Amino acid sequence: MGHLDIASVSHWLPDGRPLLHEVSLRVGDGAKVALIGPNGTGKTTLVRMVSGDELVREGTVSGSGSLGVMRQFIGSIRDETTVRELLLSVAPPAIRDAGLEVDRTELLMMERESEQDQMDYAQALVDWGDVGGYDWETGADVVTMAALGVPYEKAQWRTVATLSGGEQKRLVLEALLRGPQDVLVLDEPDNYLDVPGKRWLEEQLVASPKTVLFVSHDRELLDHVATRIATLEPGRVGSSLWVHPGRFATYQQAREDRNARLEEALRRWDEEHAKLKALVIMYRQKAAYNSDMAARLQAAETRLARFVEAGPP
Ligand SMILES: Nc1ncnc2c1ncn2[C@@H]1O[C@H](COP(=O)(O)OP(=O)(O)O)[C@@H](O)[C@H]1O
Ligand SMILES: [Mg+2]
Repeated sequence: MGHLDIASVSHWLPDGRPLLHEVSLRVGDGAKVALIGPNGTGKTTLVRMVSGDELVREGTVSGSGSLGVMRQFIGSIRDETTVRELLLSVAPPAIRDAGLEVDRTELLMMERESEQDQMDYAQALVDWGDVGGYDWETGADVVTMAALGVPYEKAQWRTVATLSGGEQKRLVLEALLRGPQDVLVLDEPDNYLDVPGKRWLEEQLVASPKTVLFVSHDRELLDHVATRIATLEPGRVGSSLWVHPGRFATYQQAREDRNARLEEALRRWDEEHAKLKALVIMYRQKAAYNSDMAARLQAAETRLARFVEAGPP
């Protein structure tokens, strides 16, 4: 059981440029929600805010259940990262921390061979067992066999850099889909996957009881998996989010209807804008030779200023 709730989140880039404008999205228990939009509209940034990689300064991100995250760029982690470290990085925090502590103390023990180092390593192994590390390794074996056809025992020391983009994605996906997390956030999980890989992902996501928010450009994946479609649309004050409460099959029509409505609203806004401007000009001319008109001129100017400030739809 798990859900995500993004409420009125706004975000600015370091140079002050607005990126996200009052974005709200709820991903209900078991829902599969797609996040789409042109490149640069802030999909990855929003995902990073949900995963805690990026600070949420305005608005809130909340939810229930444990969270698993697939970041957009797996290969961009440091070059010597091993398969073991990659799998630990997407494991529940207790497993991840205990596993990294085993690696750290083991390295120190091999380098220095002091008694304290040996004791620290022994303690790390006890803690590893306590958090369920050995069960996790059994699961990791299933994951590496499925993704790479290699048992975990052998695969764990390979560097991620020696895997293809597709293998990297598959590895993380196998781990997350088989993992205990209730909520998954996946940033372009189908990128680099071949066609059978994409179809596999589709089937897994449809069959999974997990709550999933995923970024994708793949029409078929959207079509078969997404129960709702959230679109980031670029705008003057940052991208805003429009949620289509149905599947991709009805998305195109809903979008056209919405655009037609927006165009109509914009046309009316332009008309009203022109009217208010004409009013100001008229009162300005009258006020020039009739001081009684000053108050009316000011009222018209205030109205116009407020209207422009509220902005077009
Ligand atoms: N840390 C950062 N510093 C400066 N610009 C950034 C940073 N992170 C993202 N951006 C910019 O924010 C915009 C949105 O990026 P991103 O969230 O990756 O969009 P998307 O995933 O939709 O393609 C881009 O213009 C990108 O260059
Ligand atoms: Mg992105």
